[in-house]
Parts: sequence; C-alpha cells; structure tokens
Amino acid sequence: AEDGHELWLRYLPLPSAQAQAYRQQLGGVDAPADTPVQRAARDELVRGLQGLLGATAAGAAAVGQPIVQVGTPASSPRIAALHLPLQDLGEEGYLIRHLQQGGQGGIVVAANSDVGTLHGVFHLLRLVQTTQPLADVDLRQSPKIQRRVLNHWDNLDRSVERGYAGQSLWDWQKLPGWLDPRYTDYARANASIGINGTVLNNVNANALSLTPMYLEKAAALASVMRPYGIRVYLSARFSAPIEIGGLPTADPLDPAVQRWWKDKVDEIYRYIPDFGGLLVKANSEGQPGPQDYGRSHAAGANMLADALAPHDGIVMWRAFVYSHETSPDRAKQAYDEFVPLDGSFRDNVLVQVKNGAIDFQPREPFHPLFGAMPKTPLMMEFQITKEYLGFATHLAYLGPMYEETLRADTYVQGKGSTVARVVDGSLQKSRLTGMAGVANIGSDRNWSGSQFDQANWYAFGRLAWDPMDDAGRIAEEWLRMTFSNDPAFVAPALAMMMRSHEAVVDYMTPLGLAHLMGRSHHYGPAPWDAGSERPDWDPVYYHRAGADGIGFDRSAGGSDAVGQYAAPLARQYGNLATVPEQYLLWFHHVRWDHRMASGRTLWDELVIRYGHGVDEVAAMRGTWDGLAAYVDPERHREVAAFLAIQQDEAQWWRDACVAYFQSLSQRPLPAGQAPPA
Ligand code: GCU
Repeated sequence: AEDGHELWLRYLPLPSAQAQAYRQQLGGVDAPADTPVQRAARDELVRGLQGLLGATAAGAAAVGQPIVQVGTPASSPRIAALHLPLQDLGEEGYLIRHLQQGGQGGIVVAANSDVGTLHGVFHLLRLVQTTQPLADVDLRQSPKIQRRVLNHWDNLDRSVERGYAGQSLWDWQKLPGWLDPRYTDYARANASIGINGTVLNNVNANALSLTPMYLEKAAALASVMRPYGIRVYLSARFSAPIEIGGLPTADPLDPAVQRWWKDKVDEIYRYIPDFGGLLVKANSEGQPGPQDYGRSHAAGANMLADALAPHDGIVMWRAFVYSHETSPDRAKQAYDEFVPLDGSFRDNVLVQVKNGAIDFQPREPFHPLFGAMPKTPLMMEFQITKEYLGFATHLAYLGPMYEETLRADTYVQGKGSTVARVVDGSLQKSRLTGMAGVANIGSDRNWSGSQFDQANWYAFGRLAWDPMDDAGRIAEEWLRMTFSNDPAFVAPALAMMMRSHEAVVDYMTPLGLAHLMGRSHHYGPAPWDAGSERPDWDPVYYHRAGADGIGFDRSAGGSDAVGQYAAPLARQYGNLATVPEQYLLWFHHVRWDHRMASGRTLWDELVIRYGHGVDEVAAMRGTWDGLAAYVDPERHREVAAFLAIQQDEAQWWRDACVAYFQSLSQRPLPAGQAPPA
C-alpha cells in the first residue's frame, strides 16, 4: 500500500513516451564505484533510472548508446579528459551538462569530490522525476551555506521532544549491532536535498550520550551516514563533567574541566573520525551552563571550541536563552545577552539563533540578532516539526514562512542586507556558515507524521542549500516527485500549499499575535491561560488584551524591543502608522477601534481574520477532494482525514479566541460573522 514511506524518492515508471525520450539521453550509466560514496551515487542513479525509465537504463552502456557519465577528474579518466570547469564548484558542488560524444548525446555529472557527484546524481534524478527537458542541460550548483544540519530533539528512551511522527528513528537499544535499513533511507533522503549533518540527540541533552556505550552507537550511525556525505554531531550537556566525569564542577575556566572536555572530544574522534561537533543549549529553560559559575556564554563555548579545534570540529552554541526571572519582555533577552559578546567567540563557534525572538510561533518578525553580531557567524535555526502549528494533522507548508525570514531586510548595512545574506556569510564575511532545522522525523511509516509534513523537511533542505531559493518552486518540485506531474494536480495542490501557512496564522494568531496556545502542550487555543509560575509562559503575557485594546507594546514607549533593529526598521516597526499589519500586535498595544488599512476597526478585522482562516481550510478540503483521481487512495484518504481534523480545530481556535477576546472588547461581531459555538 502507498503510505508515503518512499518520500520524494519514489522513482515510479514515467509514462512510456516520456521514458522512451529520456532513454535517448540516459541509455546507460558510467560511474566509478571504488569508494563508499561513489557506490552510493552509482547505486542511486541506477536504482532511480531503472525505476523511472525501465530496465534498459541500468548497468553499463551498450556500445554506441548515450550514457550518463559520472565522476571527478580523480575518479574517472574519462571525466578528467573532458577538462571541465570545476574550479569554483567547491567541495560539494557539481555540474550537469549535455554532451555530444561521437555523434551520440549523453549527460555528464562531474564534481571535485565524490560527494559533489552524489549531489549531482540526485539533481539529475530530480530533473527526470519532474520531467524536465535534458537536451540543453547545462547547470552548475554549489551550496551557499556550509553546515546544513538537522537537529533531532530525540531522547535516549526514543521519545522525541515536540515530535509528532512516532518514536525516534534511532533504535539505541539495538545499536550498534543492528543497523535498521531506515537509517540508509534517511541518509539518502537527506543527501537528495543537500543536508550534510545531523545532530542525533535532544538539545535538552542527557550526558549519557557522551559515554562510550552511546558513542559506539553514534559511531555506527555515522558509518551509515558517511557514504551520503552526512556528518554526525551530538548535543552536549554542559554539566557532563560532573555527571559522567565525576568532577565537582563544570566551570569552564577550571583547568580540570577543560582537560576533561579535551579528553572527551579526543575520545569522540576515536569513535567518529569525521565527527562534526557539539550543539549546546546552556543556561536556558533550566539547562546548566557557564553562567552557573559566573562565566559568559563565550567562555563556555570557547572551552568546547578549544577542545574541538584540533579535530576541525565546531561548536553550535544556541542563543535561545531567557533568564529564570520573568523580564519585562522576553523577546529582548537573547539580544541583550549575546550582542555584548560579539567578537569574543573562537573561530570554530557558530551562534545558533532561532528565526524569531520568542519561540517558533506561526509568525514572528526575524530575530534582531541577525545582523547585530558582525564579528560572529550566526547560524539560522528553523523548526520543521510543527510544535506551534497544529502538530502533524494541520496542513501548513512552511516554505513561505522560512522564505519570509530569509528575505527579510535587516538594513544593518543599508538596503539589501537580508537575513539570508547574514546567514550565508556574504554580508559580514563569515568564514563559517550554517542552517539548522529541528527535525520532524520519526518512526511513522510516512516519516514526518503526515504526507504534507514531508514537504517541510524537503523545503528546509533546499533552502539550506540556497537560502534565496523560491518556496513555490520548491513546493512544485516536491509535489511532482511525491504525487504526480499532471498539471491538473500540480496547479491546485500548489495553490493549496502556498496558502496553507497563512491560513494557520489567521485561525491561530492573526495580526502579529503570538503564543495563544495552551501552555506546555502548545496545541489548542488557551488565550485565557494565566497564573503559571512563570508569567512569560502564559498567553496573557503575550496578547495583553483588555477593555482598551490588545497587543504587546514593544515600541520606544513600551519595552523598546524595536530598538534592537537597525534604525530604518526600528522606525517602521515602532510607528503604528507604518508597521506592517502582519506584525501589528507584536509591536503595539492597539485600541479595539483602531482603523485598519481595510477601513475596518481592529476588532472587526481580528474577527474576520479568524473566520478567514477557517474558510481557507474549508477551501483546502474542497481542493483536495477534487484531486482524488490523481492520488493513490491510501494517501488521499489520510490527507483528507487530517484536513477534516484541521477544519474542526480551526473552528475551535476561531470560536475560542473570538469568544475570549469578545469578553474583553465587549464589542459586537461584525455583520455576517457567526457567534462562537
Ligand atoms: C521550545 C520548546 C522546548 C524546547 C525549546 C528549545 O521552548 O517548547 O521543548 O526545548 O524550545 O528550543 O530549547
């Protein structure tokens, strides 16, 4: 049965006329297979072409047949003889070209390294999967970002923090003896979209993951990832020297602690010679960290960086911090703590910053740290798992959300200083660059909890490769590979995907609202929640609604969080007349009768947005019902059932929020809006 297990690597036979045409160019495969990476590339190509085009495409080419020639100048004398311009493709890039050889057409996939050819092979397969013409193909690609990594919030007991796709993929209990074939499929899927790293364990880390027993297991996983160009990283618990090292302290300035980490890192590299490095969540939400000893984040990060440097390992030090005491505005804290540290981190440290200043809300303005630490490379952290966006059942394609952040202009060096250019290092000349995605992957047959959540994994990978890639283009590519190339399917399904994220914003947190979800689970609406031990975990802390109006005043007269942005943005966001309406209540506390661009009052607009979100989901359901002819019944039924859940829950969100806010605004609903159920 179809259940989404193949992801976008389905390789089902193309219609025979198309397959026939491709066989004119892809009659056989000539690829070296002397190393594990070469074998991975060759096997994938053969498997893909065999599936897509039929048996004739596989194996060595018959004499005079057009072939795909794959390799590096070092791995293939025939590639070397072509003298291709590979210089500026870097370590992981590749070129794909149509080549006329002895009167026969053919395709060449060439790179400087085996991993480059592997990426090229996946690209060539993608072209065939999406039925692109190959006659004039001539393309060059290399990643714009160096470290493209998934962060698994997976625990050693196989539970996954904020995971909605079953258990952790990592079967620690059976490792290292049993290597589940799904590990290989995981590596293939990631390599196909350019992901080159994976942090295996939760940022809320268990120190045991650094003990020999677990390092041996991690090494086994690394051996599966390696042929696919994917490095393994681990999350480190800052207090590990105490918990597993028997030391009395984890003070980063204590020589015994420094020694312990150095030895520990040396040990890790004995297990995993190409280990990527350590990810650290410190002094955040109760996690231990250098501040426990009166030391700074930089002191903590640098201690680990020094241990990793001899091995070329890196530290990814998270900026998701907020203090134990409730502050007047949680959104300001990471900036306040990290900006003074700019320039004091070692060269092999990346500071990993969430896309927004609070926490993966359906919509947040970009984090003001981007652009504000010119001497420190900043790594983007997106969340792929939909913690605040309806878990697995709500359909929300996150490509447009990622794109909105990446294309946002920080103005730190004038117009055009986009977040993408901060992250890819081009703006501030960073030597080290990275993007992390909190994975939505688990043991479910469909990997991600739902069919459409696979698209979010896919889009993350493509945008990590090129942060200026287009979310719509990516969605179309994914739809074609995952479901169908039929334009009668692709056009409506694409339109549905592209509106889906905004629909969720509308029925959960329109107009710049945030954090209205029930506390701790973060699923349904609970805008009334108050009185927890930390006020900044309560929705009322964020929406601040009352009889007068609604919204968090972060203007200069309020918390002045706007002051953390470059001057032109601080002015734009800080002024009620110029702030984009999508961020209105993020930056301002606004009267209920405030006039919106539509001419309506804020109150009426808010109610209408909530209703619009529900209507959008109803429309998505209608669209999907109309596509049954193009999708296998199993996957169609699953998506349809989830959309029905989503529609019920969009209505729940709308009714709960409208009823609650109406109890404060004391205003009638705009004409035509049904009273909350
Ligand atoms: C959110 C999430 C936590 C997670 C944290 C983090 O607060 O709810 O589960 O640990 O982010 O990113 O560290």
